[in-house]
Amino acid sequence: MIKPIIVGNWKLNGNKIFIRNFFQLLNQFLNPYHKKCTTIITPPILYIPLIQKILFSDKKNFFLGSQNVDIHTFGPFTGEVSPCMLTDIGIKHVIIGHSERRFNHKESNTLIAKKFHILKENKLIPILCIGETKEEKINKKTKEICKKQIDIIFDICGAYAFDNSIIAYEPIWAIGSNHSAKPKEAQYISYFIRNYIKSKITHKIKNFFIQYGGSVTDKNAQELILQNDIDGFLVGGASLKIKEFTKIIEIANM
Ligand code: PGA
Repeated sequence: MIKPIIVGNWKLNGNKIFIRNFFQLLNQFLNPYHKKCTTIITPPILYIPLIQKILFSDKKNFFLGSQNVDIHTFGPFTGEVSPCMLTDIGIKHVIIGHSERRFNHKESNTLIAKKFHILKENKLIPILCIGETKEEKINKKTKEICKKQIDIIFDICGAYAFDNSIIAYEPIWAIGSNHSAKPKEAQYISYFIRNYIKSKITHKIKNFFIQYGGSVTDKNAQELILQNDIDGFLVGGASLKIKEFTKIIEIANM
């Protein structure tokens, strides 16, 4: 049985007071559960040192991650964060390809694949978001879109790209909408993604996980996690509510 990975993506939210309150409660909560499920929170990057100070040191299955990375190591790239800097402050997991970056920052499949590549070169774990828009769904293009978003990673990073990595299947229409994909629907595409990746390689893939993301809550988490090909969640809004987020972790531990 695979150990679920729950990622809480805080996006552009939080401040010092919020963080102190949130982690005081999370610290207390995580102890009995930390063996069965891996939990990762990706706060705004500048708060990571503060959170590292607040966290108990024995949280073996808890990690802080980054919401972004640049494709350069250092140099004149104002506002960016490099993979070595992430490693330097103890980060292992990095979200890339989130639809908010694809749309708001015009990030292309090629740029995202380059980010994937530099993460792998630096032994970081990519959490690659893929998924279709509402229009693409209506036009029955979901598989085609996912294939395209996966193919470019293979093209740039090679056959072992997805070893030690995470794909978050996030139908864009479900993000922040209060309407998650139906569990069977999310399972169908996650199964497709897993098999598509398997069909492109000849070795046995290692440490590869598929998450579902898009309006995950403590109400729908149970049915979603019971699906065979869903190994965890990428949670947005609900990861900012400590009660709801810990309930989701609890559900993933059952
Ligand atoms: P949501 O966000 O859970 O608020 O829908 C998910 C995401 O953007 O990854």
